[in-house]
Amino acid sequence: MILSGLEAVGDDPILLVSTLFRADDNPNKVDLGVGVYKDADGNTAILECVKKAEEYLVKNQETKAYLSPAGNPGFNDAIKELLFGTDHPVLKENRVVTFQAPGGTGAIRIGIDFLKTCKPDATVWVSDPTWPNHYGIVDAANLTAKTYRYYNMKKGLFLFDEMMEDLGQANEGDVILLHGCCHNASGADLSNEQWNLVADFMLERKLVPFIDIAYQGFANGIEKDAYVVKLLCDKLPEAIVASSCSKNFAIYRDRVGAVSIVSATEDLSKINGSHVLKVVRSIYSMPPDHGAAVVSHILNNVELRNLWIKEVDEMRTRVKEMRHKFVTQMAEKAPSSDFGYIAEQNGMFSYLTLTPEQTQILIKEHHIYMMANGRVNIAGLTLSNMDYVTDAIASLFN
Ligand code: LMR
Repeated sequence: MILSGLEAVGDDPILLVSTLFRADDNPNKVDLGVGVYKDADGNTAILECVKKAEEYLVKNQETKAYLSPAGNPGFNDAIKELLFGTDHPVLKENRVVTFQAPGGTGAIRIGIDFLKTCKPDATVWVSDPTWPNHYGIVDAANLTAKTYRYYNMKKGLFLFDEMMEDLGQANEGDVILLHGCCHNASGADLSNEQWNLVADFMLERKLVPFIDIAYQGFANGIEKDAYVVKLLCDKLPEAIVASSCSKNFAIYRDRVGAVSIVSATEDLSKINGSHVLKVVRSIYSMPPDHGAAVVSHILNNVELRNLWIKEVDEMRTRVKEMRHKFVTQMAEKAPSSDFGYIAEQNGMFSYLTLTPEQTQILIKEHHIYMMANGRVNIAGLTLSNMDYVTDAIASLFN
């Protein structure tokens, strides 16, 4: 027998929150766990642009024959443009390939497995804290993960100097995993000036960026949020970018993402592309079609694309409003608390500067679900549950 030597592993800390939330039948329960957007009514609705694209596909799609390991070419080109714009040097020099992947996670996995092919002993530096699955994916490829300080969860402070100090320990050829925008889990992003310093530093030290951009559009807008991608791929010769359509198209379960590889020359780009496709073929052969076909139709149709931009703007604006409302209410209800930093942060997530005990009180006594380390999904707040949540948090201070 060979299938009898294992012990069960614990649940993923994010997915565990969803399981606990589902099992709770308290009518007041609030889900601030997994990173999905909720609208003003608390629903994760299907975007109108997506519905329209799906209607179009039902009427017009002619085949379900195999795609290819690279995925949908119209999708790949459209994602390339979202990330790099239309006149970026890597486009003109044919130094970037973009391939459809099953979600942002699939894109990271393909990027990391490709990295393993290039450099079997690569070290990947991840921010502390980060999305927990970054460790899982680096680990699965048997690469070494090291951490750079990024954010003080107890104080709600971004640690730029400490980040730079720790990146100073990286060796030539080390890979630095960066969150393109809306850092998961802190919501604390670098300013453009700070990104410029990072780019210069990485160039000087010959470090390689691996950019995970899963929330494009949720910080300052689709175009502005790609600043890091454009900057680093302009200044540095090589990069890997894993992007996701889960959040900005709200097609979480359809699993749509892309991996882009920027290489030093056009010839290398072709060679590297062939290796990425080999990785794909050996894992899932080719990506699922539907979600990417929807995204491709939206991005390649002026009317639907404009509708999409409008819908992304609405999602971003609502989350920002919830951030401000939360901060205002907490300042009124618990003057000794200090959650002002939450209004400055981006995307869905922030940490509540609470003790683990306080977090457990919120979960167990108030049925407000969040990660045990205090990460909350601000997009889970609505005008209907805001009072309940801020009252509960204020009760910890008064
Ligand atoms: C999250 O961080 O909650 C999301 O990225 C969903 C996930 O897969 O963990």
